[in-house]
Amino acid sequence: MCGIAGYIGPKVAAPVLTVALERLKYRGYDSAGLVTATADGLHLRRAEGRLRNLQEKLEREPVSGHVGIAHTRWATHGAPCERNAHPHLDGGCTVAVVHNGIIENHDHLRKELQAGGAVFASETDTEVIPHLLARLRRDGLDARASVRQACTLLEGSYAFAAIFADEPERILVARKGSPVLIGRSRPAADGSRELMIASDIPALLPHAQEMAILDDGDIADLRAPGTVEVEHDGAAKIPVFKRIEVTADAVDKGAYDSFMAKEIAEQPAVLARLLDSRVRGGRLVEPDLGLDLKAVNHIVFLACGTSWHASMLGKRFLEALARVHVEVDISSEYRYRNPVASGGTLVVAISQSGETADTLAGVRLAKSKFLPVVGLVNVVTSTIAREADGVLPLLAGPEIGVASTKAYTAQVLGLFLFAMQVARAKGLLPEAEELRLLAACAALPELVTATLADETAVVEAADLFAAAEATVFLGRGGEHPTALEGALKLKEIAYIAASGYPAGEFKHGPIALVSRHLPVIALCPRDAMREKMLSNIQEVRARAGRIIGVGAGDDPQLRDLCDLVFPVRSAPEDLLQPILSILPLQRYAYHVAQRRGCDVDQPRNLAKSVTVE
Ligand code: G6P
Repeated sequence: MCGIAGYIGPKVAAPVLTVALERLKYRGYDSAGLVTATADGLHLRRAEGRLRNLQEKLEREPVSGHVGIAHTRWATHGAPCERNAHPHLDGGCTVAVVHNGIIENHDHLRKELQAGGAVFASETDTEVIPHLLARLRRDGLDARASVRQACTLLEGSYAFAAIFADEPERILVARKGSPVLIGRSRPAADGSRELMIASDIPALLPHAQEMAILDDGDIADLRAPGTVEVEHDGAAKIPVFKRIEVTADAVDKGAYDSFMAKEIAEQPAVLARLLDSRVRGGRLVEPDLGLDLKAVNHIVFLACGTSWHASMLGKRFLEALARVHVEVDISSEYRYRNPVASGGTLVVAISQSGETADTLAGVRLAKSKFLPVVGLVNVVTSTIAREADGVLPLLAGPEIGVASTKAYTAQVLGLFLFAMQVARAKGLLPEAEELRLLAACAALPELVTATLADETAVVEAADLFAAAEATVFLGRGGEHPTALEGALKLKEIAYIAASGYPAGEFKHGPIALVSRHLPVIALCPRDAMREKMLSNIQEVRARAGRIIGVGAGDDPQLRDLCDLVFPVRSAPEDLLQPILSILPLQRYAYHVAQRRGCDVDQPRNLAKSVTVE
């Protein structure tokens, strides 16, 4: 969580940095700030709350300077107020620091620094870094040596950037456990380059065309007019710069009112792109995972949040197609157990960002037990992608709305294709079946388009139930994860107490919640579970519940039983139906959130990329 950015170049730094923060605000938006450096010293501007507060402050009190660092915060240590906003400075304003991560020994360091005379101005863990750097400089170390020495004293995870007042043309960056990238422009005629740093690729755009990823333990030294030196364990290391493939358009809302609306609408194209990369001539293209999938007899999925719901569907796919035993584990639970690591076990980490701290810790735990790890990730430059033995890219493009939508449907399809790959490796996928399943996948983009096109009932339901205190989602089989995901969307962006249940379990307690004030959203597509679901809907109806059905628009029984029906197209293969069923639930959450005046892209208390425990 938190996003950091930096700029060195001919442009005025503050506007460049606020655009970068705009692109990073999905990582946290409790407060924002920046510092620029000129020959006159360091110039600090910070504001509590949304980025626009900082922008307004900069309009009232502009800052000059062509070098600067900036931060958008998701509070961990200390309340989300201006005093705790980054950048943090030492008492003498000789150094400024922005930081993403947690300094675990901050208490100890703070006491030690205070004993030496440092006066702290915030409650943050981060503030120990500028005080420490200032002390090391006073002890006689140069800028880079002070960062090197500080890194040996800091425990926890970090990516931080520092500017020293006496060297205003330079930014030092260190990484251990939190992501940070170095970007640079193409060389100008005189060979100079603009340099940037950022927690994520979108923030490098449009100024940088190339980027290098820092590894844990790296220290980067960026100087005007465009040199980048990297060291690791005190030894020089040549940074590997690659062309940035993401375009500025991909990180823009375009004509949409929110990234969430844009990303929901992008789903047909996202699924088509994934299929295009994985199907040739009607046959499955198998990415080389460097593994003998035939020998895999046990798969453990690790994931958090929406990715965890996708992995529940992955379990169904693998069991149905490849007959492999699958466990689905929440990363924050897996990492603190001592999981059994037997031969034939494969760990699959599912993560949109590829940076979620708990999932990354699970990956590292699995690797320490010599288990092979595959990453199903959207951000292929991420830490999980780089640490996994094999990678299955989602190709969903940047997802910026905090509530995951297009990455979810891409994950579900990606897991289906992975299950086919495992089934084929095990000789369980006859050619005719492979062709049939891929034809079913190929139909999805159009079915998604058709399902998204009809949102009349969704809008009507949002009008009726936006003020509801709670909402229940019921589903069976593959629609149980859909129920969980639909409930998560409503909780995340509309702040409604929403719960998803396997419909057959509802009668064992939660049915006590049913009253005429409680909307119950029942997933009842035309699949093998339809009859059972219709019975569960009857049970709710008998208790005067308000029922929204999600299923075929022309299902007369469903229409009779429900107050409203969200129509979804039927997938040619039942296993794939959840990709369609989730669509009206994403849109329902969006419309309810709007009616409740919530910011759908930046819901309160959340961050998209959770890089702390
Ligand atoms: C956060 C986000 C969720 C996301 C989860 C896992 O909690 O708010 O939307 O599903 O992290 O993120 P990942 O990037 O690992 O898929």
